[in-house]
Amino acid sequence: AAAAGAGSESCAPPVCVLVLGMAGSGKTTLVQRLTAHLHSQNSPPYVVNLDPAVRELPFAANIDIRDTVKYKEVMKQYGLGPNGGIVTSLNLFATRFDQVMKFIEKRQNTSQYVLIDTPGQIEVFTWSASGTIITEALASTFPSVVVYVMDTSRSTNPITFMSNMLYACSILYKTKLPFILAMNKTDIIDHSFAVEWMQDFEIFQDALNQETTYVSNLTRSMSLVLDEFYSSLKVVGVSAVLGTGLDEFFVKVSEAVDEYEREY
Ligand code: GTP
Repeated sequence: AAAAGAGSESCAPPVCVLVLGMAGSGKTTLVQRLTAHLHSQNSPPYVVNLDPAVRELPFAANIDIRDTVKYKEVMKQYGLGPNGGIVTSLNLFATRFDQVMKFIEKRQNTSQYVLIDTPGQIEVFTWSASGTIITEALASTFPSVVVYVMDTSRSTNPITFMSNMLYACSILYKTKLPFILAMNKTDIIDHSFAVEWMQDFEIFQDALNQETTYVSNLTRSMSLVLDEFYSSLKVVGVSAVLGTGLDEFFVKVSEAVDEYEREY
């Protein structure tokens, strides 16, 4: 797979980077930072915004769902609340995704990466038919990776961390695509504590020993189960605000794509 910065002309197909994560984890800020980074490497990405409800985008999207579907009008027209409005907007957009694919295909000789920002609420994308349709359309045409963005500063409690990892694991199962865990907001707290928890079961157990609830017992068992998930997981610490960790991020993307292509 192509590495970032190798110039704007490339023969390899672009790599699709699907950015997913809980609301507020920093998806949009990360896409903005990745876009700026690739521009500075003379390798401008093709950027797609799939969040119909975002007010202002801090980057220039090549394709923006808001140009096609007006989320507030969808809410009025179908008598929906905000979540129903977002899901329906994404459904409407998915019906025309073949056109988006054509645009991306046209750009495949000039962009090494296609960056895709997804709706704020992660389940809107990961648990909807339209999210599945879009993911499968992309992944069947281009090498694709899922980037799960985690708010590291809000995952310092071992039980919260575990529930975040279970969510990440469920997305891996759902998409079955190469998977990268981007531990974001490392400017607030270094992600080494989380890496240690993943590498050393006993350190995680020690952290859990502060807790005596039923949930902590379950978490203890879960951490053994997740060991397998952790062992093949690609983890990178980033700060979307500062723009740190991005070179390593792209190395992980290339590794994930290479491994996937070797296996399938
Ligand atoms: P939704 O679309 O609402 O789900 O949010 P999102 O996941 O796209 O997150 P967004 O990029 O909007 O960031 C949410 C908040 O986190 C904003 O206030 C960002 O400024 C902040 N944020 C994002 N990345 C970082 C980071 O690396 N460090 C710090 N300190 N704050 C960050």
